[in-house]
Amino acid sequence: MSQRTLVLFKPDAVRRGLIGELLGRIESKAGWKVAALELRTLEKETLEQHYAEHVGKPFYEPLVEFMQSGPSVVLVVEGERVIEGVRALAGPTDPIAAAPGSIRGDFGTIVRENLIHASDSEESAERELKIFFPDFS
Ligand code: PPS
Repeated sequence: MSQRTLVLFKPDAVRRGLIGELLGRIESKAGWKVAALELRTLEKETLEQHYAEHVGKPFYEPLVEFMQSGPSVVLVVEGERVIEGVRALAGPTDPIAAAPGSIRGDFGTIVRENLIHASDSEESAERELKIFFPDFS
């Protein structure tokens, strides 16, 4: 089933020069295609919408601040089972728990600076695509 998902390469990934590496891992999956891509410093309002369900959690404020600390790459990726697929490429939230071979497992150590975000369900993808690309159809 072809799907669309919203992906962010977070400011740590951009600062570390990992855009090409992460994009290569996504683009090399058969049948997946980048449908939109932009280097963008995310605004506080956008991040508050994006992370609304986490308001009040201890990591929320530092996460929103970190996500404004430099440009991110904002992408729409489409293809077969891409929602589940990009999450699998990313690995679990905590990079230390992420297996080598996953993006977080290969490049991360700090939970907040875990390199990549990808929508976790069809509902999230639909909501997040509207937040980051309101004019995309
Ligand atoms: S939760 O509480 O289980 O819903 O959290 P989770 O789905 O794992 O993560 C939600 C987003 O918050 C980020 N996160 C953190 N950031 C900083 N510090 C800590 N401790 C932390 N825990 C979770 C996590 O990376 C998710 O952000 P995105 O952008 O979706 O990756």
